[in-house]
Amino acid sequence: MAENPQAAAAPETLLAAPDQATQSQINEETAVLHAEYERRVASGEKLPRTVYDFPPYRSSILRHPTKNPKLVDPETIELWSPAYGQRDVAAIESDLTLQHSGEPLGERITVTGRLLDSWGRPLRNQLIEIWQANSAGRYIHQRDQHPAPLDPNFTGAGRAVTNDNGEYTFTTIKPGPYPWKNHINAWRPAHIHFSVFGQSFTQRLITQMYFPGDPLFPLDPIYNSIRDQKDRDRLIGLYDHDLTVPEFSMGYRFDIVVDGPDATWFEPEEGEH
Ligand SMILES: [Fe+2]
Repeated sequence: MAENPQAAAAPETLLAAPDQATQSQINEETAVLHAEYERRVASGEKLPRTVYDFPPYRSSILRHPTKNPKLVDPETIELWSPAYGQRDVAAIESDLTLQHSGEPLGERITVTGRLLDSWGRPLRNQLIEIWQANSAGRYIHQRDQHPAPLDPNFTGAGRAVTNDNGEYTFTTIKPGPYPWKNHINAWRPAHIHFSVFGQSFTQRLITQMYFPGDPLFPLDPIYNSIRDQKDRDRLIGLYDHDLTVPEFSMGYRFDIVVDGPDATWFEPEEGEH
């Protein structure tokens, strides 16, 4: 990822929607669907935690999964799997503010968390990758051409390997919100993409961390394709003053749980926005 950040950034404009709904249409559809899911769950129906066929998320209409997942023979795939360890990732790769000759613009932040299984056990030596827009909401990606400035001192990709306590830490810049083409005046809440590699390609999971109090939460169809408010809340990094570094950065905590009832919500394979 560090070698080729372009490949890691999100292909936002690939997601142009087939129609041009207004934000209030999207809000209305979202409210109706959330109410319907609640009704169905209250009447005993078991619904998946993530709704793949979520019409307000217009740009996924033609590409969301429509069939049940099929188990493939993992052995063949795993022959091609990498094994990452502490020695493969330099400590400096977790600091996205040190990748160029100057300092990137924006609010410096420290993001720390633990990678845990559902029993609360730390997952050590796991590769965690992040990618994000710069403070102006712009990705370094040929498909992101909206008129916000690129920052010559910010690439927006980093990686770390969890330590013996399952902990990781990134130093970066708070990303800005950015427009995308899901509907008229569609803006994504500020977010950092996270990938947790596991021990093989078949275990890779992808999610996003959001920031507390973002006014775009109720307007964002990706965030709202997660049915349950509890699951949505788990994607919001917690401001933690103890992680704030004096004279240096604001601190956020983002723990990731990879299975069980407290699991962090993960995206379907192709959902990288
Ligand atoms: Fe994104």
